[in-house]
Amino acid sequence: MKITKEELISRLKTEDFPLSNKYDPQWVIDNHMGPNVLWLTEWLCRAMEFQKNQRILDLGCGKAVSSVFLAKEFDINVWASDLWIKPSENWPRICQAGMQNRVFPVYTEAHALPYAAGFFEAIVSLDSYHYYGTDENYLGYILSFVPPGGRIGIVVPGLMRDFKNEVPEYLTRRMPSGSVFWNPAECFSFHTVDWWQKHWEKTGLVEIETADIMYDGWLYWLRWAELLDELGVYFDDEAPALREDRGKYLGFIRLVARKKI
Ligand SMILES: C[S@@+](CC[C@H](N)C(=O)[O-])C[C@H]1O[C@@H](n2cnc3c(N)ncnc32)[C@H](O)[C@@H]1O
Repeated sequence: MKITKEELISRLKTEDFPLSNKYDPQWVIDNHMGPNVLWLTEWLCRAMEFQKNQRILDLGCGKAVSSVFLAKEFDINVWASDLWIKPSENWPRICQAGMQNRVFPVYTEAHALPYAAGFFEAIVSLDSYHYYGTDENYLGYILSFVPPGGRIGIVVPGLMRDFKNEVPEYLTRRMPSGSVFWNPAECFSFHTVDWWQKHWEKTGLVEIETADIMYDGWLYWLRWAELLDELGVYFDDEAPALREDRGKYLGFIRLVARKKI
């Protein structure tokens, strides 16, 4: 379906994310890899502080949309690090956004990062940390790249509460396209905010500064998924599952912690 640029802007515009409103919606849609990463990044940034010229790791940055946003909004230097999207694919996008002196694309596997210990002032990760960070030992590893006092902030899709028994049928139902929302190879890394908080706290390595859920996160997720559906953009058929769930289980989780001194 054809939607005019004005309509796209009004469909995505929201008072809750004023910084995100400034970006071309077509650019965000063309480079999406899941829920609207600008909204997730803006929400994360409200719980973090950045100072001009700081060095930031954007871990699992995908198509570097969050990296461009961070560099533009906070005048910081961002190492856009990703596994699936190669640096040569991200570089033209970064240059087109005018951020070639601020955002540096790097090919990285999250367990073998090519950076010096203590190199970054902060680490962020949007819709990515759950792919590797549920490992009990991962926090200790990733924290080696910030100095004591440095921050790590993540936003992940997760559970608003634990399932009573099994995964609800509407999440495992096969959609007309053949896909299911709850892909067992990925979604068992979805956890509650309490789970994530304990997961980090028990290491004794960090002070948790923020551990919360996005208010009406499922509505934002659904709004985005429905728009992509209308546009005919493949998006794993998420909208029907989100509509049926109504935020009972699905939403977004934010954690920000400071490495202990
Ligand atoms: C759902 S995509 C989200 C991408 C981007 N943050 C966004 O929100 O648009 C998950 C990203 O995590 C990255 N990722 C998953 N496992 C990874 C690993 N082991 N090391 C580095 N990146 C990883 C993938 O390359 C992918 O780009």
